[in-house]
Amino acid sequence: MPDLDAAKDAKKFYEDVPMVTPGFFLKGSGALDWGMKNRLARIFSPESGRTVMLAIDHGYFQGPTTGLERIDLNIVPLIPYCDALMLTRGILRTTIAPAYQKPIVIRASGGPSVLKELSNEELAIDIEDVARLNVSMMAIQVFVGGEFETRSVHNMTRLVDMGLRYGIPVMAVTAVGREMVRDAKYFRLACRMCAELGAHVIKTYYVPEGFDTITASCPVPIVMAGGKKLPELDALTMAYNAVQEGASGVDMGRNIFQSDAPVAMIQAVRGVVHKNMKPAEALELYKSLR
Ligand code: 5RP
Repeated sequence: MPDLDAAKDAKKFYEDVPMVTPGFFLKGSGALDWGMKNRLARIFSPESGRTVMLAIDHGYFQGPTTGLERIDLNIVPLIPYCDALMLTRGILRTTIAPAYQKPIVIRASGGPSVLKELSNEELAIDIEDVARLNVSMMAIQVFVGGEFETRSVHNMTRLVDMGLRYGIPVMAVTAVGREMVRDAKYFRLACRMCAELGAHVIKTYYVPEGFDTITASCPVPIVMAGGKKLPELDALTMAYNAVQEGASGVDMGRNIFQSDAPVAMIQAVRGVVHKNMKPAEALELYKSLR
């Protein structure tokens, strides 16, 4: 019988004991090839071990999202403050200057729109185009528990195989269906499955109870997804708690670009992620910059 993870109390996560990774600064990444490590070291700061990724790929399934109506006007001014940009190849080729110097995290899955079943995705880019675009990491949704769970997991494993051939890491995004419970038990399952099946980085949501058990039981770096727009202090607090509880940074979208002052907000998030700034202090920074 499979262990359905009923009794968290019976498990030992050793949340206070960091995993040791000889040979590299990123958790679980010590045995990767040089190209993979070099790409990851462009995304994650070797000094802090963390990243502030700016996610602007929402249009791939929901069209011109609030705050992303004009990426040339709304997002380009934020670029100097992010460590990496997560986006689609369409926006990259049309709207981002080729002289852009920072790492690209490319959206590699797609298919259904918000009008349909979202888990019914396919791979949406060829590895040769990923290489042509000088991409540092590929991102793909994995719908654990979703209607097309197996397909999305298989998409990820195929992408991992392609990425291994070219030295390009894969970030699995643990997508949650509308009706699904978002708790530590679910995200431990989803994150661990993605890591076991080869993902190099996992993007997942913050949960107030037991987030440290999700990071502790996942052998690769986790970055926190932002989710729906929150008041600035709440978003900064969530990012602070996530990194203090073991996340290797954030991949935030709406809580930055839907803020009243996105340029100030991304700098406040940087303070929390790279300098361990407390949320109240980061909020003061936000207010002083806005
Ligand atoms: C879509 C994604 C998005 O990039 C990301 O989750 C959106 O960022 P945010 O939730 O912070 O607006 O992976 O599922």
